[in-house]
Amino acid sequence: MDYDIKDIGLADKGKLKIEWASMQMPVLRLIKKRFSKEKPLRGLTIGACLHVTSETANLLDTLKAGGANVSVCASNPLSTQDGVAASLVKHYKIPVFAIKWEDDRTYYKHVNRVLDTNPNITMDDGGDLVSTIHSKRDEVLEHIIAGTEETTTGVIRFRSMEADGVLKFPIIAVNDADTKHFFDNRYGTGQSTIDGILRATNILLAGKNFVIGGYGWCGRGLAMRAEGMGANVIIVEVDPLKALEAVMDGYRVMPIKQAAKIGDIFVTVTGNKSVLREEHFKLMKDGAILANSGHFNVEIDIQKLKSLSKKKRLIRDYVEEYTLEDGRRIFVLGEGRLINLAAAEGHPAAVMDMSFANQALCAEYIKKVGKTLEPTVYGVPEDIDKEVARLKLKSMGIKIDSLTAEQEKYLKSWQEGT
Ligand code: ADE
Repeated sequence: MDYDIKDIGLADKGKLKIEWASMQMPVLRLIKKRFSKEKPLRGLTIGACLHVTSETANLLDTLKAGGANVSVCASNPLSTQDGVAASLVKHYKIPVFAIKWEDDRTYYKHVNRVLDTNPNITMDDGGDLVSTIHSKRDEVLEHIIAGTEETTTGVIRFRSMEADGVLKFPIIAVNDADTKHFFDNRYGTGQSTIDGILRATNILLAGKNFVIGGYGWCGRGLAMRAEGMGANVIIVEVDPLKALEAVMDGYRVMPIKQAAKIGDIFVTVTGNKSVLREEHFKLMKDGAILANSGHFNVEIDIQKLKSLSKKKRLIRDYVEEYTLEDGRRIFVLGEGRLINLAAAEGHPAAVMDMSFANQALCAEYIKKVGKTLEPTVYGVPEDIDKEVARLKLKSMGIKIDSLTAEQEKYLKSWQEGT
């Protein structure tokens, strides 16, 4: 079997991690059980570009149980858990091309190794498989039925491709399922970003000015959790509606130039580039800490920070100290890459359970509908989204009510009023 990982000797420890995550993933376990019997993915080749974590391992195992041939590369150079990668190879017989701290050249070499398998379905987190197919590997296109996309950034990229008329196959935006972004983006990013910052720095959050760039689902979750730790949360936004929501959720909202002067910790979760840049570095306090939890490492202009600095050193794992000409120090965590996956372990398994249940059921849906979809970006079918919510509640032992016949009738009628 073809693979490229750090060390196969890490496999046994990785397997325990995968088993631990599985215990928090009851919905995916149920799907795996059904897939093992029905084999709905028989004959399919799935190429995945996902964070190689213990949660992802459980998804890949589920897809394999459904009859698919699966291979995986990392969707970020810093997010691979090398033990998990080794266990996937040794115990699950799944080809993995991912090594934590791989450089960009190796990263794309690994993306290409997955594309060499001629996948029928691409499973992206950020869009690098699909963009590589479109820009460099168009011979792969003939095999493709459709792709799925895990994250906001990837969905934005694919919508731009669709708008430019260049998208050549259908994509299902798993991110847009309610059972994905309401939970993974909000509670997952909220908790795991704090986890990453604390593991990297061990700072006290209570009493700190905690500036969050972006009040989407990730920003909301992060604000909620940072506030819970006693931080003074400040939101910076460009969207008036989101800014207004942040105000009414009780946070201070101000322009980034104002926040730059008072922030102790800055976290970007916008999906955009150069959110923190030269004009802001010049205003920051000595000791300001910068981190990113958006998909790509473009949200903080680190190149600029480097060029403004007279000295740079690694002061702790994942913490780089930049000393500016005037002596102020700015600390950047995890090279500006997703801090929750670089310094911690990503979102907890209990939320990835829903995200990856959507992925597995969307793969089954793609197999079922075949090449009937248009080359556009689709939402997750509503029945899949609802089924994931239903199964998750059930796994938590929570029952809910249903409408009476009279109520159902009322909702469909318009005659009854005051
Ligand atoms: N994205 C965020 N957290 C993740 C995790 N634990 N596994 C895979 N992808 C993730």
